[in-house]
Amino acid sequence: MANTDIQNAAEAAVNDYILAQESKDQLRFLTCGSVDDGKSTLIGRLLYDTKLIFEDQLAALERDSKKHGTVGEEIDLALLVDGLEAEREQGITIDVAYRFFATEKRKFIVADTPGHEQYTRNMATGASTADLAVLLVDARNGLMVQTRRHAFIASLLGIRHVVLAVNKIDLVGFSEERFNEIRKEFETFANGFDFETLQAIPMSARYGDNVTIKSEHMAWYSGPTLLEHLEGIEVGEHALEAPFRFPVQWVNRPNLDFRGYSGTIASGRVAVGDDLVVAGPAKISKVKSIVGAGGEVSAAAAGEAVTISLEDEIDISRGDLLSSTAHRPEVADQFAAHVIWMSDEPLLPGRPYLLKIGTRTVTATVSEIKHKINVNTFEHVAGKTLELNEIAFCNFALSTSVPFDPYEENRTTGSFILIDRLSNATVGAGMIWFALRRASNIHWQALDVDKQARSEKLNQKPAVLWFTGLSGSGKSTIASIVEKKLHIEGKHTYTLDGDNVRHGLNKDLGFTDADRVENIRRVGEVAKLFTDAGMITLVSFISPFKSERRMARDLMEDGEFIEVFVDTPIEECRKRDPKGLYAKADRGEIKNFTGIDSPYEAPETPEIHVKNVGKDPQDVAEEVIAYLRERGILNGGGTNGEGS
Ligand code: ADX
Repeated sequence: MANTDIQNAAEAAVNDYILAQESKDQLRFLTCGSVDDGKSTLIGRLLYDTKLIFEDQLAALERDSKKHGTVGEEIDLALLVDGLEAEREQGITIDVAYRFFATEKRKFIVADTPGHEQYTRNMATGASTADLAVLLVDARNGLMVQTRRHAFIASLLGIRHVVLAVNKIDLVGFSEERFNEIRKEFETFANGFDFETLQAIPMSARYGDNVTIKSEHMAWYSGPTLLEHLEGIEVGEHALEAPFRFPVQWVNRPNLDFRGYSGTIASGRVAVGDDLVVAGPAKISKVKSIVGAGGEVSAAAAGEAVTISLEDEIDISRGDLLSSTAHRPEVADQFAAHVIWMSDEPLLPGRPYLLKIGTRTVTATVSEIKHKINVNTFEHVAGKTLELNEIAFCNFALSTSVPFDPYEENRTTGSFILIDRLSNATVGAGMIWFALRRASNIHWQALDVDKQARSEKLNQKPAVLWFTGLSGSGKSTIASIVEKKLHIEGKHTYTLDGDNVRHGLNKDLGFTDADRVENIRRVGEVAKLFTDAGMITLVSFISPFKSERRMARDLMEDGEFIEVFVDTPIEECRKRDPKGLYAKADRGEIKNFTGIDSPYEAPETPEIHVKNVGKDPQDVAEEVIAYLRERGILNGGGTNGEGS
């Protein structure tokens, strides 16, 4: 054979191999359980027995096992997995490592979810695409709090197949009785969950019993080994069977003649000639062409990255969802969902977060925590906030309507993540249950006398002067002088003062973070109504959090919100102490006092920054009024939207 022939033959062999691998069916699973139940050893064992460890890794492993291993002369398989972990840690951002291995029958992707405190979070990340969960239990300890917790999360995340791996069975003398005891306890406990299959397997990951090779020590066990079970289980192709859903990642427009929509098919199948609908505007068109990785195709299915072009010119952009016309998604701006909270900072109802669903990102707040779930007892408990790793059922309100499916029907279009607006960190994961109908039954009532008409009549531009600062900083004193001066000039004003509003509308609120968020949300909405009425509104609230001041700002039109930071050092406020509250707080008689045991987040770029030490409040008030005059707020009617 000529050299090129050999090369061609080798290439063909490689291609055949790759094709054979690609056409193999694939199972995604994750391992979970209590710390030290043997997760790393089990994954190491699977990789080792399926010969996925390469020669050089093996040599290193033997060396390392002698150095650091915990199992004497034998190879410590946990070191392999943990070694990979150390490598991975340099990547920092990845919480979940995916490991691949294959047998003659199937390809496997294991989501290995390390970390102990952050386990819920990591598990949620790994489980969102898994078909099956291997739940490890140490035969000596039996079911632990963590075991129950992870089983619950797996069920919540829609995993329908579970393996109860009763590990370290060698340490209880390969006892059938002990195995049955644990199995029965778990079966009783998991009864309420929606698992389709539940297979308990007695095993020793360390010695390989019943992992890939049938154990010689447990003649009493007639079930499959773990690998046999993983190879044989039918998990169903949910993503393929679900209706077609395609979140548009970007609009591909290489030239004027072609406009395609690129992204990954979330579920279902699509073919040239199919009718598709853009959820939301509900516009329909036909598929003209589909381009896959290798060029034009006539059809494509879930998991494939494609570019789709349509027969008609429709206004479609990133974040839109193309769907089958026969089974359309729901579209709503309020829904109920389960949330897993993943941040050290608690979730506060009323606080705006970014909600990313598919390729779409909108602003959202939790309008109500319906109940929290105690993951150990599954009891529903009341709660005002949600702490790290807690799970709750909540109502959400979004800034705009989005298309989605209930999570039960579609794990991709039914799930979302929550992102902190200031730090950009992922702080929660959610699974949608149902749309709240009342959202779509309430419409904005257009009124004939509008903001423009009202402000023209009042001969002023509406605005909100938002005074923020510590208690005793002088907010109310300054606001009061400003209002008096405006009043004398014939302007129409109203002051919303924290102490006063807390006597009425916000009588039910205290000073926890959650209550302060709600306090500001309400006063922000009231200020918006006053602005709509054409008034110059003065808001004087501590408003300690950036996030909620920004929320209030976002409620107003451009230029309407004027943040006045009354910047008085706490020592000075303490000295003034007009209401004697600092003295009380120091004596421990008031809890959560701003600046003492509750934070104040100073504005970074307020419209007006008042360094309020040694200044005459009259002069400060003049500064504020000068700003209003400069912006044309005091002259003539019309809104800021009209330009000034
Ligand atoms: S805010 O933080 O929620 O914006 P708000 O401005 O409504 O506070 O109310 C603050 C006023 O409540 C203070 O001026 C003070 O008189 C009173 N107060 C009582 N307890 C506290 C507390 N723990 N922290 C701050 N202010 C308190």
